[in-house]
Amino acid sequence: MNHMLARLSLLGVAAAFAGLSTAHAADVQKGAELVQQGGCIACHGAGLDKPVAPTYPIIAGQHESYLFHALQQYQTKHQTPLYGRNNPIMAGMVARFNTQDLHDIAAYVASLKSPLFERDLARDPRP
Ligand code: HEC
Repeated sequence: MNHMLARLSLLGVAAAFAGLSTAHAADVQKGAELVQQGGCIACHGAGLDKPVAPTYPIIAGQHESYLFHALQQYQTKHQTPLYGRNNPIMAGMVARFNTQDLHDIAAYVASLKSPLFERDLARDPRP
């Protein structure tokens, strides 16, 4: 009986992980729409690679995981005294997005060409 229960709960865990992975698959097209609606180009530039002020960061082509975590850290609910970013401009920008939106935005921004570096196609064969 205990064996049976253990098996059932393992199945449950597997199903939960399967659900998680589909929910987190990033949608680049959706990310492009969210960036357009979000008005990000007003500060980060048309290709998100020419910020309007030298103190604003170039975000185009940065690593997807880095972008996702940067965006999430601007959300108030992810801020703790040890973790999180405290920037009033970006906090306002990301407030309305959910976690899936941030994954989509990060995937889109990461797919753009960056003026910061030349991509080594052998090591990074993204389209
Ligand atoms: C009003 C100007 C403004 C707008 C509009 C804006 N940003 Fe920003 N963004 C900034 C500034 C300023 C920073 C640097 C903040 C800091 O010092 O943490 C920043 C930082 C970022 C970073 C972190 C970059 C890094 O290297 O750590 C990301 C990612 C980002 N913005 C994405 C976006 C996205 C996506 C949008 C649209 C939804 C957006 N921004 C709209 C001004 C803006």
